[in-house]
Formats: sequence, C-alpha cells, structure tokens
Amino acid sequence: MKRLPEPFRIKMVERIKMTTPEHRAQALETAGLNPFLLKSEDVYIDLLTDSGTGAMSDNQWAGMMMGDEAYAGSRNYYNLCDAVKHFFGYELTVPTHQGRGAEQILFPCLIERMRQVRGGTNPVFISNYHFDTTAGHVEMNGGKAINVLTEKAFDTDTYDDWKGNFDLDTLRETIAQHGAHNIAAIITTITCNSSGGQPVSMANMREVYQIAKEADIPVVIDSARYCENAWFIKQRETGYENHSITDIIREMYTYGDMLTMSAKKDPLVNIGGLCCVRDHEELFQAVQTRCVPMEGFITYGGMAGRDMEALARGLHEGAEEDYLNYRIRQVEYLGERLREGGIPIQYPTGGHAVFVDAGKMLPHIPAEQFPGHVLANALYVEAGIRAVEIGSLLLGRDPLTGDQKPSPMELMRLTIPRRVYTNDHMDYIADALIELKEKAASLKGLDFTYEPTVLRHFTAKFREKT
Ligand code: F0G
Repeated sequence: MKRLPEPFRIKMVERIKMTTPEHRAQALETAGLNPFLLKSEDVYIDLLTDSGTGAMSDNQWAGMMMGDEAYAGSRNYYNLCDAVKHFFGYELTVPTHQGRGAEQILFPCLIERMRQVRGGTNPVFISNYHFDTTAGHVEMNGGKAINVLTEKAFDTDTYDDWKGNFDLDTLRETIAQHGAHNIAAIITTITCNSSGGQPVSMANMREVYQIAKEADIPVVIDSARYCENAWFIKQRETGYENHSITDIIREMYTYGDMLTMSAKKDPLVNIGGLCCVRDHEELFQAVQTRCVPMEGFITYGGMAGRDMEALARGLHEGAEEDYLNYRIRQVEYLGERLREGGIPIQYPTGGHAVFVDAGKMLPHIPAEQFPGHVLANALYVEAGIRAVEIGSLLLGRDPLTGDQKPSPMELMRLTIPRRVYTNDHMDYIADALIELKEKAASLKGLDFTYEPTVLRHFTAKFREKT
C-alpha cells in the first residue's frame, strides 16, 4: 500500500530519548509490568492513546495568544459556540475539562428527566458501545449501561464496512425489554472506539434516531472521533462520495439531540471537551446548573480562554479533508503492513488505531492471564513502543460476584496520535511487531501481585507466570 505524504511541514521538534532493551526491561520491572506506570521518558513511540497526544498547528498556537481569560463571557467561548453551530447546528454549548466532564454533568440530568417527564424508575442507557468512563458515569448514577453492537465487530478477520453499527433488532428488543420510559438515553458513539475505531454508517445513525424518536428517547452523540467517522462515510457509503466532510458532519448531527465530546481526539487539542444541546432549553439549564459546581462557570466550563480558542480552531482543522486523508491512511498503512506480516488485526483497520488480536497471536495464553497485556509488555521491551491492552484486564470483574467478566476479544491497541509520528515511525512499529511474532510462543502469561478493585488496569502490578 502506498504511503500518503504528510500534508504539513515540521516547524518544531521534540527530542525522544533512545533506550536499550536492558534499560526498558528494568523500567518495566520497576513499573510492576504495567506500561501505564512507566515514565513517558522511557518510551520511544507512545501509542497508549490518541487522547490529548496530538500536535497543535501554528494556527492553534497563535490562537493560544488570543486568550481572553475573563471569568465570564470570554470572547473565545463565543468563537467556540460559533464553531459548534457551524458544524453541528447545536445552539447551546458548555465547555468542559474533557469528555468525562461532559458525561458527569449531562447524565444525571437525563436520568432526572426520565423520572420526571416519562415516569421511568430504572434508568438504562443503550449504546453501540459505551466507552469505559461513559459506562462508569451511567453506573455511578445508578443506571445500567447496555451495549448493542453488531455481531460483525467480534469477527476480527472478516471485512465489514460498518463494524461500529448498532444491531437494530437488539436495540428494539432492549427498549421493549426495559420499557421505553426507563431508557434515559441512547448513546451513538462515533467512531466506535471499543470495536477498533470502527465507523457507524449514516443509515444506521438515521435508523437509530428514528427508533429513538418513536419511543420518545433522547439521543446523545459521543463525539470523540466524529471527523474520522465522517471520512469513512464519504469513502464507503453510497450517495456520500461527493459530499463535503462538513456536510456529512452536519447530517450526522441531525440524528442526535445533544452531544458529549472529548475534544482531545479529532479536534486536535491537548485538553478540553464539550457538552452541547440542539435546542432543549430546559435540559440545557439543568446541565448549566451542574456545570458551575463541577466544571466551572458556564462560559468556561473546565477550560482556559486560550484553550477554548485552540479548540475553536481545532474543530475546523480536524474536519479538513486533506488532513483526514493523510490521517486515516497513515493508520491503515500500519494495519496493512501488519496484515502482510501475518499479524492478526481487527480488519478493516479503524480510524485512530490498529487493534491487534492478541488472543489469536498468543493462543497459548488464556484470557485470565491477559494476552493483550503480555504482548504490550513484550513490544515495549523489544522496541520501546507503548501500547495498551483492550480485553479482560480492562474489563475487570463483576462487582457482585467478583468473577472476571468474559471479554469478547483480547486485543492490543496501537493508538496513533494525530500529526505526531511520521510514516517512517509506522514502518518501525510494523517491523518490530512482525519480528516479535517469532518470539510469541515463548511469551508467558501474567498473575496479579496487586489488583485494585476498580479501574484496575491503570495501577495493577503483575508477575510472570512460571
Ligand atoms: N468517549 C469515547 C468514545 C472515548 O474514547 C473517550 C476517551 C471518552 C469518551 C472520554 O473522554 O478522556 O476526554 O474524558 N478515550 C480515551 C482513549 C481516553 O484512550 O480511548 P475523555
């Protein structure tokens, strides 16, 4: 596959420390065999996440100098609202410190409305797939988070255009089973991070919205990677080939009533988020009321004026087509190199990451010994690359029974930061993993030496099974 050259030139560089395998083995030992606990200085290529790790442009940095740090009514807030109206057509905006900030102020308001307006008693949220913090906020507010992702997503080998789609039959059944009055919201996550950065089709978004409207259920669009989703629609969905990315984004957001956004991904900022509502004043007032004590005053939420300016500009840059072509092709190039080298991955490659099927690559390591995490550790020691497990370790235990929750897949995510690493870095990553395949059979499973009760993957420590 041909590489697309970067549509930017580099004006400033950041040195990365070069280390040896011996140094890294020692560093990983000190980190309790958990890459989350490494010092980033000891990492050569950091693929832990694409969140907040992108490079801002000269235009965004120039915007940082235009910060209006007024406590109330900052001009940067109004610039941000204008960008939101331009792309999403939503009238009402509060900035938040990041995506989970938006979740924490919106979800309790949705539950409250479900109780008061629709007479529900047992709050349920249904999503193609809830991101961990999203499910966390649902559960912390006494709700149940149910995923109704297409079965196709779990077959990593077989190509499908829309592995982020909702299974519409399961969606209808789930609404019927719990009663529409108990569904606090449907959350459409674009792209679907948990299935591999896989897109949701316009047709699916439209049908989900119709089903929701028939049952009087609000739809929230979880918007971390909406530009990448729009790009996939343009590439893959009949009828959209000649639409602009902006027009596709605008249509996508007609299939939602509100959005939460981690602005640390597609909008190319290092920190920030949004909670926006199309036109529902009353709900928005409830969100604003929670925003003040939890995030900050309603015109800055969790953000400095300068950061809101960088975000207002980033919303435009993230939707540029030349940039998106390069961005998604870079990730796809890595995926294709790995496939050619015999590495099993979620296929096709998603927008922000390549998900390696560690369960298939290390068949001798059972799920409860965390093959995805074993592979991430080996990749770090071999090549200085930091990846992250998405599987049983991340999923954790059932809080009631204490049993490991069964994970449909054991994956290792190679998450590509935006505008940070070059195409040569992609070759380096591919070469390293292909070389590691030769050693796969000698890798050993892991046992906990410390297992925290919640969100264990961040701080757990391990030893190798003997
Ligand atoms: N929704 C999705 C789909 C996400 O991927 C994330 C974060 C969030 C919400 C929460 O946003 O981090 O700004 O509070 N995903 C990151 C990741 C952390 O690595 O995938 P946040």
